[in-house]
Amino acid sequence: MFIVYTSNTGHTRQYAQMLSEALDLPAYDLKTVPPTLDGLEAIYMGWLMAGSVVGYAKAAKKFKIRCVVGVGMTPESAEQTEDVAKKVKPGAGVPVFYLQGGYDFNKLGAMHKMMMKAVTPSILKRFDGKSEAEKEADPTYRMITRGDSVVSAERLEPVIRWYQAAEK
Ligand SMILES: Cc1cc2nc3c(=O)[nH]c(=O)nc-3n(C[C@H](O)[C@H](O)[C@H](O)COP(=O)(O)O)c2cc1C
Repeated sequence: MFIVYTSNTGHTRQYAQMLSEALDLPAYDLKTVPPTLDGLEAIYMGWLMAGSVVGYAKAAKKFKIRCVVGVGMTPESAEQTEDVAKKVKPGAGVPVFYLQGGYDFNKLGAMHKMMMKAVTPSILKRFDGKSEAEKEADPTYRMITRGDSVVSAERLEPVIRWYQAAEK
């Protein structure tokens, strides 16, 4: 087993590196996985773009994906995990995890900036009527207004527990 990831601005890469250390598995960028690993079992981690896990379809053609981890800016919830799982639709018995990562508009390329400019007002609308303290307490608000990251080893614990149980 190894880890394959796709990251646009580095947060998913950070999670992949943390998971690599925690599980003692090598982690590779999807673009540079050694061809000798084709067809073998992998954990796939990708950033979320418009609800989809970027790179999953390509990775699923190359490897036997045993677990999928989506990383986005939306807060973690059972509903968000369910939404990601519905989009990914992996095979039976393949778990899907969702982790909140980070976001920084300034790190995006021109096309992604344009896409995010279109949706930022609707994301900000969710905070209408909230106090400054409530807004500031929400990582998504900090991410969208000035860039922030909540990447942490603790968030990976459900993935680590799954792996340890699956490997028994
Ligand atoms: C064009 C675009 C679309 C995005 N769509 C979503 C989305 O649907 N859901 C979500 O939770 N986050 C979304 N995000 C936020 C990223 O998934 C988030 O910033 C993630 O942590 C980026 O990971 P990376 O640093 O590895 O690229 C979007 C970001 C961009 C630039």
